[in-house]
Amino acid sequence: MKKELADLLNSQVNFELYSAHIYLNMSCYCRAESLDGFGNWMDIQYQEEITHAKKLINYLLDCGYTPIITNWEDSPGSEYNSILEVAQISLMHEKVVTERFNYMMNKAKELDDFATMNFLNWFINEQIEEEANFEKMISQINLVKDAGLYLLDQEYASRTFVDNTQE
Ligand code: FEO
Repeated sequence: MKKELADLLNSQVNFELYSAHIYLNMSCYCRAESLDGFGNWMDIQYQEEITHAKKLINYLLDCGYTPIITNWEDSPGSEYNSILEVAQISLMHEKVVTERFNYMMNKAKELDDFATMNFLNWFINEQIEEEANFEKMISQINLVKDAGLYLLDQEYASRTFVDNTQE
């Protein structure tokens, strides 16, 4: 593989690790907000990103290139206002990942690197699912938002007074 292309893949290794840190922060935020289900989902997303980085690392090594792991220049961020914002930020992030893989695919095509084009195909397809997951999460949060508040309101409405000073 040409160094120019290998460097792009190496950069993506570090971007996948950066993605992993973003989702781990999101998992912590969800758990701190008592949204353990979303926390679990984001934790699995974190683990998936690590496997994406590993897949790239293994391919680079197979091609005789030694990957270099570095910190990403931006902080992964840890402050969110709502679960909806978490999902929206995630979707924006995955769109950036998709653009990066499209760029790598174009470069591989330009260099007639058919093996790398074949390798990158997996990620191009994976990004369809990655974006769809967050599109769906945003729609579902919007769908249940009002209904969820109503259900919670019903639960609070069922409280009855018990004079426990007499117990
Ligand atoms: Fe590895 Fe979420 O893209």
